[in-house]
Amino acid sequence: MTTQVNGLDSLALRADDMATQNNSENLTADKHQDVEVLETIGENILENPKFSTRNVNVFYGEKQAIFDASLDIGQNEVIALIGPSGCGKSTYLRALNRMNDTIDSCRVSGQLKLDGEDIYDKKMDPVLLRARVGMVFQKPNPFPKSIYDNVAYGPRIHGLAKNSTDLDEIVITSLERAGLFNEVKDRLTAPGTGLSGGQQQRLCIARTIAVSPEVILMDEPASALDPIATAIIEELIDELRENYTIAIVTHSMQQAARVSQRTAYFHLGKLVEVGETNLIFTNPRHQLTENYITGKFG
Ligand SMILES: Nc1ncnc2c1ncn2[C@@H]1O[C@H](COP(=O)(O)OP(=O)(O)OP(=O)(O)O)[C@@H](O)[C@H]1O
Ligand SMILES: [Mg+2]
Repeated sequence: MTTQVNGLDSLALRADDMATQNNSENLTADKHQDVEVLETIGENILENPKFSTRNVNVFYGEKQAIFDASLDIGQNEVIALIGPSGCGKSTYLRALNRMNDTIDSCRVSGQLKLDGEDIYDKKMDPVLLRARVGMVFQKPNPFPKSIYDNVAYGPRIHGLAKNSTDLDEIVITSLERAGLFNEVKDRLTAPGTGLSGGQQQRLCIARTIAVSPEVILMDEPASALDPIATAIIEELIDELRENYTIAIVTHSMQQAARVSQRTAYFHLGKLVEVGETNLIFTNPRHQLTENYITGKFG
């Protein structure tokens, strides 16, 4: 079972990497090396956080992608991770559910705790961790299975349903909460890949919430969607916040402003500034943050 999940995880990662490579209109980060980042400015540390990360460094082989990042994520908050292309947003996000484990060259150091529990501890099973910390990728990646089976997959492998009625209930509730049920209720046995992009992304969200995660990581979940599908996803994020903690990477500052309560700005692998979203956008303290949000860079 583990191998199968890992197989699917790496497929999802490859799809995500391809999407990242296509993101060529973004400026690259190394055009702006003149301003130094000494330490993170703002409220990166919280009392009683859901996730606590300290001095996180991430390497791909010799190349360092994250430098000494310390960031807490609060209970039931949506935190937006923003910054220029290549600054390490996806890398940091993937460290939170050990998705980087699936990349051979990748090494993570530092302290990462979920509810006080070290997620890199030898006793932590990454497959179970990923059920607690679910992930939605930039490119919707439904499994080549029916709509029903996409959502039922996680509950089945984690033994969350006692019988088929129970499983039906989980699938229907998850599809409802993802705002997709009414559109697919008459074709639950049809392939998930036959849905529109926005529907596929909501299917992936339903699949993620079907295993009752505590945290949902979203890596540019709406970047491939039209404004209507984007609005549906953003509304959904707002509703999900009641029950989950959400970290979302986005290139859209409007989106960050609409969905998040706190924002973290990354630059060249460093966590530059963290604060309340409205303050970050109206009154940034670091020059680099200001340059980015005023569109001078990135
Ligand atoms: N699988 C990998 N192998 C080697 N280097 C990688 C890999 N993934 C990312 N990197 C490198 O790590 C750095 C951070 O990349 P990352 O994908 O985290 O940036 P990002 O902020 O998510 O960018 P984008 O906004 O374009 O998605 C980049 O220099 C990138 O080239
Ligand atoms: Mg990325």
